[in-house]
Amino acid sequence: MPGPTDAAPGAAVPGPGVSGSGVPGPGVPGPADPAARQEALSAPVLARRPLVIALDGPSGSGKSSVSRAVATRLGLAYLDTGAMYRALCWSCLEAGVDLSDEEAIAAHVRSFPLRMGTDPAAPGVWVGSRDVGAEIRETRVSSAVSRVARVGEVRAEMRRLQRAVIDDARHGETRGCVAEGRDITTVVAPDADVRILLTASEEARLARRAREVHGTDDASAISATRDQVLGRDAADSAVTSFLTAADGVLELDSSALDFEQTVQAVLVAVERTICHGTGAGPAGPEFHNAPAPVGSPA
Ligand code: DC
Repeated sequence: MPGPTDAAPGAAVPGPGVSGSGVPGPGVPGPADPAARQEALSAPVLARRPLVIALDGPSGSGKSSVSRAVATRLGLAYLDTGAMYRALCWSCLEAGVDLSDEEAIAAHVRSFPLRMGTDPAAPGVWVGSRDVGAEIRETRVSSAVSRVARVGEVRAEMRRLQRAVIDDARHGETRGCVAEGRDITTVVAPDADVRILLTASEEARLARRAREVHGTDDASAISATRDQVLGRDAADSAVTSFLTAADGVLELDSSALDFEQTVQAVLVAVERTICHGTGAGPAGPEFHNAPAPVGSPA
């Protein structure tokens, strides 16, 4: 089992290789036979190394679990950049840093001993020798993390660390990675081979997050989730632009897709982008801004 890696400039930890298949979602093109479909999806993609996939999206869009699954199936490393901001927020809270004091937060990030694991089967987060993987998901961190993420010096340092991890993964054993967050397609890795913005309707995102946190999506769970999800997106969108796709970034709406269908849609997007080059996006109703494939009638 791979261990942690220093985020700066630590090497990416290898992923577990390719496994699994699934059924594409409605509108996702591909051969009728599932085995042929998997082969058609993965062969060109597996041959393409290095391969960096950038995936952004708002809270509850499913980007973390989808990114992990895509990384696992393609044998790539996985980088959860949100976990890095969460770890910094956790560390500030532990140290009693005043979160309204941007200079104090900036001073804290200058000596922040973060280590990120990039195995999609078990992506770990350590601050020094402490495994903070569970604690960074606590509500106190989720509610405060935007205050840390808005600090300019924090964003600059995170960008540097994230690029170092992506670069190590590109040149390391996995020869690539799936990196997910809010500004990966636009700021951190605008040169990624495939860039996707994963969106979902507000209703779908609230229901997913409510099931994740409360185990149900009944009315009271949704209302308990609403402020956290929508409030955090509003705060985050003041510093990052993840609600609309930038030029050249494919927008995938997962509102009507289940988890497996979303993973398959991303795999199709990766395969199409690699086979047809930039500007030849996937077809399918869930891709809002996909240009026509090369050679298709105008
Ligand atoms: O994806 P997440 O909920 O774990 O992200 C936690 C916070 O980190 C989120 O509120 C916004 C911030 N973030 C960011 O500003 N830039 C990123 N690339 C990833 C996350």
